[in-house]
Amino acid sequence: MIFLAALLAAPIASAQTISPADPATASPARVDAAIAATFAGAAVAWMPRVTQDETQRLCSLRRNEPTQAEADSIVARESATLVMPAETTVLGNWRNGEKIAQNGQGGQFSDAPGTVSGGNCYACHQMAPAEISYGTLGPTLAGYGRLHDFKPEAARAAYAKVYNPQSAFACSSMPRFGHNKILTEQQIKDIVAYLFAPDSPVNAP
Ligand code: HEC
Repeated sequence: MIFLAALLAAPIASAQTISPADPATASPARVDAAIAATFAGAAVAWMPRVTQDETQRLCSLRRNEPTQAEADSIVARESATLVMPAETTVLGNWRNGEKIAQNGQGGQFSDAPGTVSGGNCYACHQMAPAEISYGTLGPTLAGYGRLHDFKPEAARAAYAKVYNPQSAFACSSMPRFGHNKILTEQQIKDIVAYLFAPDSPVNAP
């Protein structure tokens, strides 16, 4: 009985010492300071990657749920930065696109110099229906070109979404592949071909 009483009387304060961050009181300045300290020794070339731009700052502040007006302003700002290929057809080689979609290399401290980055699309998307290993953070892209009637303007819209997803989805968690120079124009065209070529495995029934 004494033991039970002691248990009941035991302080439970320790459970309260770590509380989840409160969006109302979280301090962006403290987070910035922690990030700057963490990456203090990183190469100068990495600095743009750990410095938030206006869009990222607003998405962080709103925990990826901006108001409609804020979302509209983000989409407008990001759309203004799109660099679209001059020619109407944005379809490259789907076989190269498939390799890029499957390739998760690049963007790491341990990369050998000259490493060509992939798109790592399968980490977040189903693409070719025959592929059984894929992440589900993003929507399925199986049959994407077929579902868009293989229309050239839909392929251009897909190019824009891969180049900079935030030109369409304000606080997207999909990387801004062209904007952040992860993929080249040719690589994005190859990826778009993987999505839109009628004979691509993505469009297999
Ligand atoms: C980190 C996860 C992630 C990665 C990696 C990623 N995506 Fe996405 N993608 C998303 C999410 C999430 C969405 C849904 C839009 C949103 O709300 O952000 C999306 C949306 C899309 C869309 C638009 C679909 C529609 O509604 O029309 C396309 C096209 C697309 N992704 C293609 C790609 C391609 C191609 C790659 C690889 C080069 C890729 N994604 C890599 C997460 C990702």
